[in-house]
Amino acid sequence: MKKIVFLTGAGMSVESGFKTFRGNDGLWENYPVEQVASHEGWEQDPTLVTNFYNMLRKKLYAAQPNEGHKIIAALEKEYNVTVITQNVDNLHEKAGSTHVIHLHGELTKVCSSREPYDPQYIEELGPDNSQVAPGTKAGDGSLLRPFIVFFGESVPMLEPAAREVEDADIFVVIGTSLNVYPAASLLYYTKPGTPTFLIDPNAVSTEARNITYIRKGASEGMKELAEMLPKL
Ligand code: APR
Repeated sequence: MKKIVFLTGAGMSVESGFKTFRGNDGLWENYPVEQVASHEGWEQDPTLVTNFYNMLRKKLYAAQPNEGHKIIAALEKEYNVTVITQNVDNLHEKAGSTHVIHLHGELTKVCSSREPYDPQYIEELGPDNSQVAPGTKAGDGSLLRPFIVFFGESVPMLEPAAREVEDADIFVVIGTSLNVYPAASLLYYTKPGTPTFLIDPNAVSTEARNITYIRKGASEGMKELAEMLPKL
C-alpha cells in the first residue's frame, strides 16, 4: 500500500464551522490569540483561558466533519494514511481517520499544568462533561489546563510527525498558511521527488519544491485530489 501523509491546518475545519487564525484581525473565535493561546496568556488569566476552551469544546461537540475529512478517512481502504494536524479539534477522528498526530494538542483533553504530558493526569472529556470549572485541580494538585500546545511551548509531536513525512509516497497539505513553525518545516522532510499537493482556496507561499497547487476549499479540493491519486 502506498503511504499518503496529510498535514492539515485551520482551513481544514472551516467548512465544519470553525474560523481560521489569520485573516480575522489576529482574533481566534473573537479573542486575541496571545490571550488564549500563549503560555503567558495562560499564566496571566487561567480562568479566561479555561472558559475560552470550554466554549470551543462545546462548539466542537456540536460540529460535524466535512466532506474533506470524510474523503481522507475513506482513503484508508486503499492507502496507508497518516494525518498530521495543527488543529485541536477531533474532526479527523470523528470522520473515521485512525492514525492522527496532533501537533498542537487536543481540545477534548485536559492535563496537569505542572506536568502536561504525564499520562496519569490527562483526562478525556466528553459531550456530557465538556465544561471545566475554573480552579479545578489536576491529580497532582496543580491547575487543570487544556491539553493545548501554547505559543512559547515546545512541540513534542514534531519528531514523530517528521518521521511520517520522510516515509510518505505522497504528501498533501490542506488549509494552513504555513506561518507557524515548527509545523511548517514539515514540508522539507519529504524524500526528493515525492509528489506534494497543496489544497487551499487562497495563495500560500512556500519555498518547498515539487508542489501541485489545488486552489479550492478542503472538500472540493479533496474530491479533485481523490480523482488524481490512482494515476500517481
Ligand atoms: N478550505 C481549505 N483551506 C481554507 C479554507 C477552506 N474552506 N478557508 C480558508 N482556508 C485556508 C486559508 O486560506 C489559510 O491559508 O486556511 C489557511 C488557514 O491558515 P491559518 O489561519 O494561519 O491557520 P493554521 O495555518 O492552521 O495556523 C497554524 O497557528 O495559531 C496557531 O496553533 C495555531 O494550529 C494553529 C497554527
